[in-house]
Amino acid sequence: MRDSAAKIIASDNVVPLLRKAEVSRLPEQAMKYPELRYMGSKKRLLPWIFDVLNGLDFESAMDPFSGTGSVGYLMKSMNRRVVSSDFLNFSSLVARATIENNTVHLDGKSIKKLINPSPAAANFIESTFIDVFYTREDLRFLDRVSANISTLDNPVERAMAYAALFRSCLKRQPRGVFTISGNLDRYDDGRRDLRLSLEEHFLEQIEVYNNAVFDNGRRNLAVRGDVFELPDRKVDLVYLDPPYVPRSDDNCYVKRYHFLEGLSAYWQEMPVDETTKVKKIAKKYTPFSYRRSAVEAFDRMFAKFRKSTIALSYSSNGYPDLSELEGLLRRYKPDVRVFEKPHRYHFGTHSGVERASVTEYLIVGR
Ligand SMILES: C[S@@+](CC[C@H](N)C(=O)[O-])C[C@H]1O[C@@H](n2cnc3c(N)ncnc32)[C@H](O)[C@@H]1O
Repeated sequence: MRDSAAKIIASDNVVPLLRKAEVSRLPEQAMKYPELRYMGSKKRLLPWIFDVLNGLDFESAMDPFSGTGSVGYLMKSMNRRVVSSDFLNFSSLVARATIENNTVHLDGKSIKKLINPSPAAANFIESTFIDVFYTREDLRFLDRVSANISTLDNPVERAMAYAALFRSCLKRQPRGVFTISGNLDRYDDGRRDLRLSLEEHFLEQIEVYNNAVFDNGRRNLAVRGDVFELPDRKVDLVYLDPPYVPRSDDNCYVKRYHFLEGLSAYWQEMPVDETTKVKKIAKKYTPFSYRRSAVEAFDRMFAKFRKSTIALSYSSNGYPDLSELEGLLRRYKPDVRVFEKPHRYHFGTHSGVERASVTEYLIVGR
């Protein structure tokens, strides 16, 4: 492994930190990624992740917990062939728009179709979410644009439209999560994002995603699926960023982003639980979220990807702890190195969490 700005710990081979001027910069293309406000997004850690990945030998990579797609897009920007997946449909649509998609933009004709004012066939969103999220006008727009998206023939164009819509919804939602409803005036700090309608956001975001499209000369792929059900694919490197068992609160992605997940399929086969105040859909089980199943899940995952270089993102506030994870990975990989970086955590529903300092790890097994 070449020297990098990342610090290696838990190894005799401690590489000194490089001087600031020598620290690698992100590829320019990677900086064009439309960031999504999302729990566990690695956006702020990308320069460090880039540094570590850049020292590894790989041509193809997989990101099976893609979330916002920020790391997959980074690896695409590094001109690697990327396979991206997540068990959430909305995540996989974002990855299809930005990672799998090398060439398709939304042009004027498609945009016209998307904002076609003719009445939507259904008003499910308006009738379900009135007084929960957004204004009536916004909800009507979502019903209308959902119907219009289905008229686009090209699935990649549809993914582009959805990506623009999800980012619009996150920007327009005061805290970027769908756990709170009703009168959210107390969060209104005058931000432009809260003043624009969803339709205005959408038109802006189409341009943002159009600008993020690029061809890295590889056949990249985005799919939806549980990590354990993905077909085995020959890839040189697997970047793993599963949720981890939290010390407090929970880490359920559906609880926070159910609205986007429902929207991604117009709630088809995702029935709303009418007993919940924010009209949630069913939680998705993942073994990484529970103390009783996490260790076995890591072990099974390392076994699944044993033929590839494994790069695991982890945090000092997760369970199991670093030494247990390293031990598990050594069962499958003779050479395990740990890179660390202090990180201030800026996401959370409690002010305490927002201020928390943690150490982020990248555990690399070869
Ligand atoms: C920490 S986030 C990944 C963040 C991502 N690296 C980014 O930068 O945005 C974890 C992701 O794993 C997904 N996930 C959780 N359990 C999963 C499973 N069993 N199979 C596939 N995806 C899963 C969640 O939907 C979530 O998007």
